[in-house]
Amino acid sequence: MPRDNSLKKILLIGSGPIVIGQGCEFDYSGVQACKALREEGYQVDYKEELGDERLPATAEITLYRVAQEALTNVRKHADTRQASVELWRRKEEAYLEIKDFGQGFDSSMAGAGGEAGERVGLAGMRERVGMLDGELQIHSKLGVGTSIRAKIPLALPAEET
Ligand SMILES: Nc1ncnc2c1ncn2[C@@H]1O[C@H](COP(=O)(O)OP(=O)(O)OP(=O)(O)O)[C@@H](O)[C@H]1O
Ligand SMILES: [Mg+2]
Repeated sequence: MPRDNSLKKILLIGSGPIVIGQGCEFDYSGVQACKALREEGYQVDYKEELGDERLPATAEITLYRVAQEALTNVRKHADTRQASVELWRRKEEAYLEIKDFGQGFDSSMAGAGGEAGERVGLAGMRERVGMLDGELQIHSKLGVGTSIRAKIPLALPAEET
């Protein structure tokens, strides 16, 4: 992805309790991206409450990709210096929410079930999350901001080894 020098601020997803050395894309890429963005002067607001147990690799990668695209959209479209990333776990589900307090957009086009108006980024998020039987919620309001929330079920048969 080429660097967009017009962008001023971004948030990053971090490593949390993920075990180092397990070849985790989410962990390594998140930390590196965070470092790079901080070096550029962006602010990163990040909250993680995953607990001690590592997420399944498929969930990690999907959540990382959603965060990556959502943050790219913040950089490209939101026109704000304020955003946040939260990652948490509740029972058998993992949640990721990326919020910004920027200009927003007409999310009726990207609302529940509808894909009209989406380009590759939002549609790709929805597809990735859907492949894990998860849910993606996109809320945006003009002049208020945007939130993207992904919910991923963790008790998938493929992950139970
Ligand atoms: N955080 C945001 N703030 C404001 N507008 C947004 C935000 N995220 C998405 N949008 C709007 O929704 C549109 C669709 O986003 P989407 O990520 O699908 O496509 P894109 O970013 O334009 O292109 P692509 O992701 O395919 O490179 C964007 O063009 C933009 O108008
Ligand atoms: Mg995009």
